[in-house]
Amino acid sequence: MRSAFILFSLLFALLFNNSHAQTAMANVYGRRSQLLNGDWQIVVDPFDVGMGWRAIYKDAKATGKADFVEYSFEPSNTLRVPGDFNSQKPELTYFESSVWYKKIFDCDAGKQERVFLNFGGANYITDVWLNGKKLGRHEGGFTPFGFEVTVLIKANGNALMVRINSARVKNGVPGSLFDWFNYGGITRDVHLVKTQQVFTEDYKIQLDPNDPSRISGYVKLNCASLGKQIALDIPELRVNAKLQSDANGYAIISLKKKLELWSPQHPKLYEVKLSVEGDTVSDEIGFRSIKVEGTKILLNGKPLFLRGVNIHEEIPQRRGRAYSDSDARQLINWAKDLGCNFIRLVHYPHNEYTIRYAARQGLLVWEEVPLYQGIEFADTAVKPKAELMLKELIKRDQNRCNVILWSIANETTPSKERDRTLIELAREVKLLDPTRLVTAAFYNVSRNEDELTLRDTVMKYVDVVGVNEYLGWYTDWPGDPEKIHWKSDFGKPMIISEFGGESVYNNKLDTAVKASAWSEEYVANIYRRQIKMFAHISFLAGVSPWVLADFRSPYRMQTSYQQGWNRKGLLSDKGEKKKAWFVLKEYYERLREGN
Ligand code: GCU
Repeated sequence: MRSAFILFSLLFALLFNNSHAQTAMANVYGRRSQLLNGDWQIVVDPFDVGMGWRAIYKDAKATGKADFVEYSFEPSNTLRVPGDFNSQKPELTYFESSVWYKKIFDCDAGKQERVFLNFGGANYITDVWLNGKKLGRHEGGFTPFGFEVTVLIKANGNALMVRINSARVKNGVPGSLFDWFNYGGITRDVHLVKTQQVFTEDYKIQLDPNDPSRISGYVKLNCASLGKQIALDIPELRVNAKLQSDANGYAIISLKKKLELWSPQHPKLYEVKLSVEGDTVSDEIGFRSIKVEGTKILLNGKPLFLRGVNIHEEIPQRRGRAYSDSDARQLINWAKDLGCNFIRLVHYPHNEYTIRYAARQGLLVWEEVPLYQGIEFADTAVKPKAELMLKELIKRDQNRCNVILWSIANETTPSKERDRTLIELAREVKLLDPTRLVTAAFYNVSRNEDELTLRDTVMKYVDVVGVNEYLGWYTDWPGDPEKIHWKSDFGKPMIISEFGGESVYNNKLDTAVKASAWSEEYVANIYRRQIKMFAHISFLAGVSPWVLADFRSPYRMQTSYQQGWNRKGLLSDKGEKKKAWFVLKEYYERLREGN
């Protein structure tokens, strides 16, 4: 009886193990690893039957002409990884169900080494098998996850099978409706990471928030092992500290050092290396302090005005998700050209290349999880999903000094459940990372003639209030922009996190009436009026127009101007600069020159 039960539970685990993937170890890019990128064989599974009676994970093959096998992998039918599947095959353009991927690979891990499979991101639900064994499941489209595969991996001919289901989920994060294109697939790098038996699983190395001449933080080993010697090397600072792990595998870092602080004007990064028992992880880390004082944001103790822009993770010319270093350079170089010192990465965590290149280019960053507009806050499954995404995001990017804001929501509607969830998430983020600022983007501003007042309970619980306003586009101006009076009872900094309007590049319609709202001149006028208004908001600490470039959205199907694109870009979908680009660039140049 007992053996039958064990057999059944093993079979069940093999077939239906939906255990959560592990939270990925910190900084896979700085470790010994091999990339599994490239062409993967695929099977398209529109009715999502591959986990059931079609059993695609069994990778059945037709043995002869008479043998009848549907849903089989064929070497000629492939998709590139990383990359969304929607933009790779015309028949997958609007596809929102399951695609199965298969990759055969060899692995040169040493006898004593441990091996981990790591996904930089995959949208939206991912199930993974290796050599016929189900490893587990991950939900969430934009954060890294992984599985230890040491006991399963072979030297040759490993069969990796992945099912990605990109269907929008009512109690998902995001929910089932959002104003961006629902790109599905293995959208980020896939690494096979090799470590020693003992290795650095996580670490945080930063400027001590209370002492600008001290490096502080921690190193966490993968095991609760007392007395392991961990070497911390920062060659340029002549640091080669020897740390000892405690019984929980932690070691504390606290080093007095004279440092060059990181800033947009001087994006100084240091080479850092952590080693333990032959296992090393390398990184490049900057040191800076970020604080709020009254209605000011202070970077390295000095007030800062954020000259920002909103960026979706999309290369418009390719009509696809951005995923590579060269994609990151295109988006970040556009922001630099505009005169930005700040970017808001919307509405989900972007890939690591973007954050890292932004750090090198001196761009401060706002990152967010996709608690976006219509979220089923009353569904108890939602908060744990958001918590996991925040944990995965903060663990991945907590050593990126240019990230200064963690955002917990965008334009969510006040309710008992929403308020409670966001207030708790704000507290949890502060506990996870007390060294950065918590924010959220709100649309709740009450209006009384030309007086606009911030009005949302949750604003009390964030450090910086983001406000999305579309004066001149979705709502009319309440009067002369220079006479609009913004009011806040919260005594904290505000960022206008979205403003703007839609226009088609080179569309020179008459600017007099709203009907010509799709002209460049009409939107340029919105920007001119917004800029006039900004000068009269005493607690304004930054602005971020919506949006860097036209982006794809199934919400935006108006036939003559949108054709599936949201046209609020300062750049067209081909990267052409609209009039509003030049209005904003000139404003940012004036700000940079201090007037
Ligand atoms: C909202 C939202 C964006 C959206 C934009 C728009 O504020 O945050 O995701 O694309 O407005 O309506 O264009």
